Amino acid sequence: MKKGLHIISSARGDQSYSRGLSTAIANKLIDKNDIDVLVERDLTKSPPPFLDGTLIGEFYKFPEMIDERGKQLLSCANEIFNEMNQADVIIIGTPMYNLGISALLKAWLDQLVRVGVSYKFNADGTRTGCLKNKKVYLAIASGGKLAYWPKECEYIESYIKAVFGAYTGITDISTYRIEGTAEQNFTANYEEIIQSL
Ligand SMILES: Cc1cc2nc3c(=O)[nH]c(=O)nc-3n(C[C@H](O)[C@H](O)[C@H](O)COP(=O)(O)O)c2cc1C
Repeated sequence: MKKGLHIISSARGDQSYSRGLSTAIANKLIDKNDIDVLVERDLTKSPPPFLDGTLIGEFYKFPEMIDERGKQLLSCANEIFNEMNQADVIIIGTPMYNLGISALLKAWLDQLVRVGVSYKFNADGTRTGCLKNKKVYLAIASGGKLAYWPKECEYIESYIKAVFGAYTGITDISTYRIEGTAEQNFTANYEEIIQSL
């Protein structure tokens, strides 16, 4: 049984194009039998807390040092990691905000990535990611188009690939974009964007 996880990070509900695109991807994967069951995590409904000093302290404790209070503080991080660990396919939708990912998605990533949990250090100082055999589909919505910008201003796909590769072990990432959503008379054609899927 192939499990899918759908991460939604735009606050615009049904108006959101990143949500529309990630939903179209999830539905196509279900139609193709690449996913049998789908779990939805709408970050707008349960926003992951921003990291603070106390939580960072818990992140770096050995498991046997974590007391009941620590377990409570880590409950969101553990839930996020467990959902990722159980999923075979992860579909992530994000708006482009100021060239980057949404703050909700960043907060989710900061809960997911943990030394000793999502990755481990090897004796020679290199890292090994702990999330194996997973496929990620990244759906990005932007008001403008990447083509308007110099190449070095592509931050979202490159960032997600870098952080997943280094700190989770996930390297199989396909990106789909819906661009120009702020243009006059814009209409979304999700099927056309994902026709190669
Ligand atoms: C705070 C904010 C910042 C934005 N920054 C950018 C940007 O840097 N580049 C861009 O092309 N569009 C930008 N946009 C437009 C959004 O990317 C666009 O509205 C997109 O459709 C949002 O995704 P959503 O439809 O899933 O909510 C911004 C929108 C907001 C509200």
